[in-house]
Amino acid sequence: MAAAKLITISCVVSVFLIFFITLSNAASYNVITFGAKPDGRTDSTQSFLRAWAVACRSSQASTIVVPKGRYLIKNAVFRGPCKSRITVQISGTIVAPNDYRALGKSDRWILFIKVDRLSIIGGTLDGKGAGFWACRKSGRNCPVGTRSITINSANNVIVSGLTSINSQLSHLVISSCNNVIVRNVKFIAPAESPNTDGIHVESSTGVTITGGTIQTGDDCISVGRGTRNLHMSNIKCGPGHGVSIGSLGKDLNEDGVENVTLTNSVFTGSDNGVRIKSWARPSRSFVRNVFFQNIIMRNVKNPILIDQNYCPNNQGCPNKNSGVKISQVTYRNIQGTSATPKAVAFDCSSSNPCRGIKLQDIKLTYMNKAATSTCKNIGGTISGVIMPRSCL
Ligand SMILES: *[C@@H]1O[C@H](CO)[C@@H](O)[C@H](O)[C@H]1NC(C)=O
Repeated sequence: MAAAKLITISCVVSVFLIFFITLSNAASYNVITFGAKPDGRTDSTQSFLRAWAVACRSSQASTIVVPKGRYLIKNAVFRGPCKSRITVQISGTIVAPNDYRALGKSDRWILFIKVDRLSIIGGTLDGKGAGFWACRKSGRNCPVGTRSITINSANNVIVSGLTSINSQLSHLVISSCNNVIVRNVKFIAPAESPNTDGIHVESSTGVTITGGTIQTGDDCISVGRGTRNLHMSNIKCGPGHGVSIGSLGKDLNEDGVENVTLTNSVFTGSDNGVRIKSWARPSRSFVRNVFFQNIIMRNVKNPILIDQNYCPNNQGCPNKNSGVKISQVTYRNIQGTSATPKAVAFDCSSSNPCRGIKLQDIKLTYMNKAATSTCKNIGGTISGVIMPRSCL
């Protein structure tokens, strides 16, 4: 009896202890306390930056809380290094100014830079991009435009449950980072909005993108130079231009792309499914060890595509072939429908043919009929069922 009582007491004591230890190890900063106004009209940029400055100096892990409501934010740079882990917990919506010109000449709206251990949880970003897209369509003189959120030179970052709508350009850019997880994001912009990529990754190692709905006017995910160990899974893409490695090889000296996987994903009504694209220019760049597996295509114009002949306006492509070396690319279990007769197109470089391309269990049809495939300058192997008939 006494022993049982003692255990109960010590349990209660330890629960309290854990509670206090948790409190004392985590500081919480509410942006409202720093003067932010959730009315969508008052500029809250400086309040957010002050909350960041305090959190960044904190030697304990800290949380910046953004409660429900709409917060008007202009260009904001959240700079590290910071002393400890920072979590930005967003329940509200962060809105860009109504007039796109108010974001000025910077190509970033919200930037996190040189931070280690950052989590961005929840929240909605409204980039208010429509005015900027209209400006570009009209051919008027427009600013360069901003990406909605950029994470640059950062390590150990989590972005989870973020929604972003109507970005001027890309919704999320990950550049020069290590170890980033992007989980369950929802990025939406109209199909006809120019250059509104969902996620762009470059010069980064160890990026995981899992669970996401991306409907945009450009690539759902674009994989740029210097991307290593990128794993994408459970992505719902479309409308948009699909998942694209490239364009690569615009420059002679350019970091290559290595170890990229895309699994368990669905493309719906997109221009491309899985695409690798390079400029028809001299380059030392490469793409190797790529794995596309368990993918469903629904009414996709170019479900499987390698295009090494990218050269807009036919300018700056002296020999009209690409120096980018593409090798070890596997396509496994890719099924569904093509919106055009040509479901598979491999247009590789004549000076640097694609090597080690593997096709396994491909079943793509066009209007319930057999689709076609084309091959140029490519070597590889097939196994299992291949529809359309392989041209390898
Ligand atoms: C790419 O993957 C291979 C095989 O898993 C591994 O040996 C190599 O180190 C990886 N490359 C990089 C840059 O991490």
